[in-house]
Amino acid sequence: LAQIDYPSNRLANVADLKVNEPVDIEYPDADSPGVLLKLGQSVEGGVGPDGDIVAFSTLCPHKGFNMSYNGEDHTLNCPGHFSRFDVEAGGQQTWGHATSNVPQFTLRVDDKGDIYAEGCSDLIYGRMSNVL
Ligand code: FES
Repeated sequence: LAQIDYPSNRLANVADLKVNEPVDIEYPDADSPGVLLKLGQSVEGGVGPDGDIVAFSTLCPHKGFNMSYNGEDHTLNCPGHFSRFDVEAGGQQTWGHATSNVPQFTLRVDDKGDIYAEGCSDLIYGRMSNVL
């Protein structure tokens, strides 16, 4: 996987987030929907005081359907061909047709608790290169 740097965007503040309540985001631009999550336990790539805040693209890496968050098993679920991705394990695919994991956004939290996205773990669906 290739880490891709995108411009820094403020997504939310840690005080805005509640455990297991997904927040819709767009990153790095309006054509790229994603989800910001507080999972309630420290996970891979997690930031914030509890190490549990993560963000992912919600475009399925198979064919680009927009996925939704399943709070019962902490996965992103694709309505296209039913792939599932584990948000507690860096977006690892746990079932389905996709041939890659779903890109995880790289997050940073500043001393005011503002959460910034600054990059991505892999190419977002439909993008041919790491430029906007
Ligand atoms: Fe998501 Fe096919 S588009 S599994």
